[in-house]
Amino acid sequence: MSNLETSANVIWHNASVTRKRREEQNSHKGTILWFTGLSGSGKSSLAHAVEEQLHQRGCRTFVLDGDNVRHGLCSDLGFSVEDRVENIRRISEVAKLFLEAGVIVLTAFISPFRAERDTARKVVPHGDFLEIFCDSSIEVCEARDVKGLYKRARAGEIPEFTGISSPYEAPTSPELKVATGEDAIEHCVDQVLQLLAERGVLKSNA
Ligand code: ADX
Repeated sequence: MSNLETSANVIWHNASVTRKRREEQNSHKGTILWFTGLSGSGKSSLAHAVEEQLHQRGCRTFVLDGDNVRHGLCSDLGFSVEDRVENIRRISEVAKLFLEAGVIVLTAFISPFRAERDTARKVVPHGDFLEIFCDSSIEVCEARDVKGLYKRARAGEIPEFTGISSPYEAPTSPELKVATGEDAIEHCVDQVLQLLAERGVLKSNA
């Protein structure tokens, strides 16, 4: 039996503790901050730095990080186009659950394809998905090469490496573009917090 047939026989159960009630208890709205960019562009560092600031302000947060999720939920997936599509599909569904829980969820995945990011945007209500493009050139990412992966990819040891032998489609109209390759991380954090304030995610005293 296909997955579609299986879900056709499953009836949705409505919770009495709703997203709205959770958000009231949290004193802030839930949202998805979707960080996208090349490997080594600073997605994870920025997501965790933003989370630190939000946590200190009493917000409920969670970071979903590519390198970590690929050790568990997505440990069966590699880096082919199909596997990356499935990786992002799973993450977008998990992020949606966190959103329902009233949490500010920060996702840090390369998420190289526009179509999958757009799909992730569409699975949640309009305005709940904030795409943040960590704009760092391949030259900067490669020069940093924090994990030594670019060197190995250039040597042909890692196939389908994003930016080298697999494409990265930069966002055309993200909610925010941060120059993680040039600007100090503190500045990028401030820009993200400003975005959250503008979007009414944080109460003014949060
Ligand atoms: S995504 O393309 O499916 O969104 P994801 O963010 O989960 O990728 O994982 C990217 C991380 O996996 C990189 O930061 C890097 O550490 C590691 N990695 C291993 N192989 C590759 C590869 N072929 N291309 C890109 N990243 C890779």
